[in-house]
Amino acid sequence: MTISRRRLFAGAAAAALSSILGAADRADPSRMIVRSPRPEDLEMPLDGFTDWITPIDRFFVRCHTYTPTVNLSGWSLKVDGVVEHPITLTMDDLKKLPRVELVGVLECAGNGRSFYQPRVPGTQWAFGSVGNARWAGVRLRDVLKKTGLKSSAQQILFDGADVPIGKMPDFQRTIPTAKALHPDTLLAYEMNGQSLPVQHGFPLRVIAPGWAGASWVKWLQHIEVLDHEFEGFWMKSAYRHPTRPVPPGTAVDASEMVPVTDLNVKSVIATPAGWAKPGPVRVRGAAWSNTSPVSKVDVSTDGGQSWKQAKLIGRQTQYGWRIWQYDWKPAEGSYTLMSRATNMAGRTQPLSQEWNPPGYLWNVAQPVALTISAQAPSSAVTESAGPQASYPDGYQAACFGCHDEHLMQQQRLTGAQWDREINKMTGWGAQIKPQDRDAILNYLSNRFKQ
Ligand code: HEC
Repeated sequence: MTISRRRLFAGAAAAALSSILGAADRADPSRMIVRSPRPEDLEMPLDGFTDWITPIDRFFVRCHTYTPTVNLSGWSLKVDGVVEHPITLTMDDLKKLPRVELVGVLECAGNGRSFYQPRVPGTQWAFGSVGNARWAGVRLRDVLKKTGLKSSAQQILFDGADVPIGKMPDFQRTIPTAKALHPDTLLAYEMNGQSLPVQHGFPLRVIAPGWAGASWVKWLQHIEVLDHEFEGFWMKSAYRHPTRPVPPGTAVDASEMVPVTDLNVKSVIATPAGWAKPGPVRVRGAAWSNTSPVSKVDVSTDGGQSWKQAKLIGRQTQYGWRIWQYDWKPAEGSYTLMSRATNMAGRTQPLSQEWNPPGYLWNVAQPVALTISAQAPSSAVTESAGPQASYPDGYQAACFGCHDEHLMQQQRLTGAQWDREINKMTGWGAQIKPQDRDAILNYLSNRFKQ
């Protein structure tokens, strides 16, 4: 990749400015794994799991659409639906309500999707579509109380200022009234002590602690109280998972799945990554859960045959993650490390992962290889689809309008899965000439295959 001098200067100027102003207000792509530059999907690398509070320049970004820029002077929050009095609030009105702060983990439901076998389509996150931040704002229930909720209220629908790309369905999500009225469900206007960054939903986003990121709607501008279940795509088709175990690779109809809500108990080993010298080694990482906090983390250095309890360090909060560490003195050799968190409700990470078609909620106690040797081993070969192939006719015109090839390159799919992806994209507005379709399908199926 070449970087123009102008971009270099712009980057240096932005970095200098943010160091004068204090904290950064956006993710630094040079310190993130870029899954897609547009719409933005940026993953935190493993070393981020040693910070208790994830700084904003390292906080993962997940966007279904292009990032909207909201101008506060023209912004307001409308609340209507099955309520006695619909209201419209400005940011000043919101700031008159009691300010509430909490530390909480935000994790994408698809975090870990790239580890599922067989592979499934979607952003191919490894470990880091998760972060721990300090959120501040108002209680959603204080806002809802102002409207006089009717007793028939069932679901609370959130809509942000983001606009769909092409003919994709608008990103709208609901949470049940009980979750909305919970005192820890917030509408946040601050993250890590500063105004909510644009990539994280400026000026206002939902904080649904313990629940997957899909419920934490960004750029919020409209809340509608419903007396029925919402039928929109992002509730009825996407973000659903099966309630019963299904054999890997099985297609499951959305009607036989339920919406993703709670996160799973989970832990990640941040360091050492791959190699360390013989002698004292400090194994370190983070562990988190849903509404039930982490109670302990066990570590195995022999692939799960024996376990020792790690030390939990730093502060314990209801929804934040815990940093843990385990001190160990290995001799030279090859080891398989695993960490396994348990929460207060007694749930523990599984030793084998249940498969699901959309690849959600990955939380197995994952074995990672570690070499202890005086010399660093030569660097590992990374997965690659091979040298650049020439594009088939019509591919760029049909597929590069809304996003670039990042979203295709990371997939490893069968021909049938690619066929379904092309249909999905055609439904969202991709225009493929009938005479080009076979060649495009062939190219994708041969180049980015399981
Ligand atoms: C009209 C706009 C548009 C066009 C044209 C388009 N896409 Fe997409 N595509 C999207 C959007 C938007 C997303 C991101 C969805 C998300 O993050 O939820 C996406 C995501 C994807 C993904 C990631 C997996 C998924 O389903 O989210 C793949 C693979 C993909 N597109 C392939 C293609 C291919 C192949 C073509 C050409 C046939 C194409 N796209 C053309 C809008 C488009």
